[in-house]
Amino acid sequence: MKTLRPFPKDFLWGAATSAYQVEGAAQLEGKKLSQQDVINRRPGVADAEVASDHYHRYKEDVALMKELGLRSYRFSLAWARIFPDGVGDPNPQGVQFYHHLLDELQKAGITPIVTLYHYDMPLALVEKYDGWIDRQSVADFAYYTEFVLREYGSKVKYWLTINEQSIIVQYWTKKNLIPEKYLDDPQVRYQINHHMNLAHATACKLVHQLVPGGMVGAAINTAPIYPLTSTPCDVMAAQNALDVRNLFYLDVYFKGQYNKAAFIYLEEMGVAPKIEPGDLELFREGYSDFLALNYYSSDCAKFPPPDAQRTESGVNYTGKKGEIDSYETMPDFFQIVRNPNCDTTDWDWAIDPTGLECLLRDIYTRYGKPLMITENGLGFFDKLEDDGTVHDDYRIDYLRSHIRAVQRAMHYGVEVLSYNPWSFMDLLSTENGYQKRYGFVYVDRGEEDLRTLDRIKKDSYYWYQQVIASGGQKL
Ligand code: BG6
Repeated sequence: MKTLRPFPKDFLWGAATSAYQVEGAAQLEGKKLSQQDVINRRPGVADAEVASDHYHRYKEDVALMKELGLRSYRFSLAWARIFPDGVGDPNPQGVQFYHHLLDELQKAGITPIVTLYHYDMPLALVEKYDGWIDRQSVADFAYYTEFVLREYGSKVKYWLTINEQSIIVQYWTKKNLIPEKYLDDPQVRYQINHHMNLAHATACKLVHQLVPGGMVGAAINTAPIYPLTSTPCDVMAAQNALDVRNLFYLDVYFKGQYNKAAFIYLEEMGVAPKIEPGDLELFREGYSDFLALNYYSSDCAKFPPPDAQRTESGVNYTGKKGEIDSYETMPDFFQIVRNPNCDTTDWDWAIDPTGLECLLRDIYTRYGKPLMITENGLGFFDKLEDDGTVHDDYRIDYLRSHIRAVQRAMHYGVEVLSYNPWSFMDLLSTENGYQKRYGFVYVDRGEEDLRTLDRIKKDSYYWYQQVIASGGQKL
């Protein structure tokens, strides 16, 4: 195997979570509901009410992070814990909780990477004006952000604005609580995204104003998109898909404008967002210092047949391979298809470490800004053995190959600051409760039964501990 340059000494080896997926205490100590607390309600207990009970066990969790050797920890603040009504008076207990967590991390020598928004708009704002659909959300997000930066700015250098706008657009009814009257209006998702772009730019400006030495960027889920065949049509379709699914977001963050081809296509389809005077100026003023990537899999596209209609991306709810029966189609532009050259996870996500290397190289060449990996990991039906062990060698294989891909990209000059696999501990999956686990730390709970909620180190925990201790040499 080729000898690669070692990871830099100050590389941030980390791990990631998000608030509603780990905290629990969804309606305790002053917190009110977020839209995710409602979206995730399902029979049984696999919802956000208790989740992994991190709110009550954060000290134990940070101790485990320290023992693992983490240098960074990416987590999110729950807007509705800090402002239960979205705006107005802050909740002192919620504010204190994040001070305690940050102080605990600081004592453990772990650098926080803090996400302002991870899908969890306060329900109060959804009830008041339909959440992100209304432009008022931008001002309210700014109000929340300014408070947070003044409160925690001295403790946090790295800020992430909004998690995965691309996924929020693609799965708009799952990531947002959408009132029924909008469900037939395909333009709404792009308007939500436009408001998020304004909120992102405003937050970037605020970090630059209020946090000396602070760095800010979005966390985006992107994937390289391969043409299904080498026919020119399929190559064009892959380019179209790249413009709509990736560059439509990234050009806003780094060039302060919408990707032209994507915007023209959306205008032709009658779904482009309404832009007001001054919006694009704000995009330019709210520049990003870096980009955070959430990477799980690559995509593949072909040119759609002439009679193709718009179709949405499907979701695998069972963990049985082959369950996904629908992929995104944009008529006369692209059709996403399964890549016959990649194996998949049980949830039909293509496993493709080389795709991560391609992505890092491509994005760095386009925008020239430092990158972070803020999610990357393998969801699996982990088994807790009778002797209290979890043998997740499949996860080790996955992570090893992806770390190697990051190292290769860095070897060829890409600036990567940090690698934060998903997830530090088992957490509430966005679509699959606690069946689909990602953590280095097993959380003893099920779909119907909270059990002990004990923390149990998986084999991957011990493996990652060595990776970090050796600075990435022992993979
Ligand atoms: C990312 C999200 O898209 O994917 C996380 O930011 C999510 O919140 C992760 O948990 C994995 O997705 P899932 O559906 O397997 O939980």
